[in-house]
Amino acid sequence: MNEQYHIPVLLKESVDGLDVREGGIYVDLTFGGGGHSREILSRLGNGKLVVFDQDEDAYRNRPDDNRLVFVRHNFRYLTNFLRYLGIEQVDGILGDLGVSSHHFDDASRGFSFRHSGALDMRMNGKAGKDAASVLNNYEEKDLKNIFYNYGEIKNAGRLVKEIAAFRHSRFFETTDDLKQVAEKTAPKKDVSKYLAKVFQALRIEVNGEMTVLEETLMQIPSVLKKGGRVSIISYHSLEDRLVKNFIKTGDCRKSQIETDMFGNADVPLKAVNRKVIVPSDEEIEKNNRARSAKLRIAERR
Ligand SMILES: C[S@@+](CC[C@H](N)C(=O)[O-])C[C@H]1O[C@@H](n2cnc3c(N)ncnc32)[C@H](O)[C@@H]1O
Repeated sequence: MNEQYHIPVLLKESVDGLDVREGGIYVDLTFGGGGHSREILSRLGNGKLVVFDQDEDAYRNRPDDNRLVFVRHNFRYLTNFLRYLGIEQVDGILGDLGVSSHHFDDASRGFSFRHSGALDMRMNGKAGKDAASVLNNYEEKDLKNIFYNYGEIKNAGRLVKEIAAFRHSRFFETTDDLKQVAEKTAPKKDVSKYLAKVFQALRIEVNGEMTVLEETLMQIPSVLKKGGRVSIISYHSLEDRLVKNFIKTGDCRKSQIETDMFGNADVPLKAVNRKVIVPSDEEIEKNNRARSAKLRIAERR
């Protein structure tokens, strides 16, 4: 593996959270550079590890290990692929959401304002609309919602006015096109942070990350054995809210537990850690990407 591909975040904490059992069956939803998968394999004995990644580059990192099955598809098809592999239920599921450092570092993928490249941003480079097409075709009100909700950009309205003015005469094609437009509405003292949020918001939309996460979380109760564990690392407050609600209530959109007329609640998971787990200062110092990470661990009832 290329050592620089990605530095795993909250590696020990998230894999400890799975409580890996020798001989068990585990899923890593987000293989990436394989940091978490390798740690699971090191504790797995003669078990099985099914990993997902929709990115061709991640597939090239896979170790030569006959306990590992690589699924080169979106993890939203979790249940279908497990069924296809003849697996009904698993002992643990790990998810380390979002994109890898490799995505940001590869200029041709268009994820970063720091590199000039085509405005693509698709994790699966073969499917769906790219970032340029979102910017060129979406209605202004939809773009505003994307930047406001996924990027937490307070002046999303002004940004979208600039985007509209640009596309009046030209098409968005490159990361530099978007960078130049967004710089006009960025606060003078924090331009990089603002640009990072603009690019992040667009990436979340391009890859349908919120919908995919919700669909996938909702499949977990049926594919996880009783006593099985799930460890999810998120990097964005909206993602974390979905995960938190899901663990607490069994529904990503509900923050309060619903009970039946007898006061009983049917919640499939119980939280293992009462408080969300965040990286140590030491980890953040070594790996800035860890800064926004939040880990939640839960067990199937
Ligand atoms: C943060 S990285 C994972 C890094 C990995 N844990 C490691 O230690 O190297 C997330 C990875 O998940 C993949 N990914 C994100 N969303 C996905 C989805 N919906 N389906 C499949 N793969 C996805 C990305 O392509 C990326 O490689």
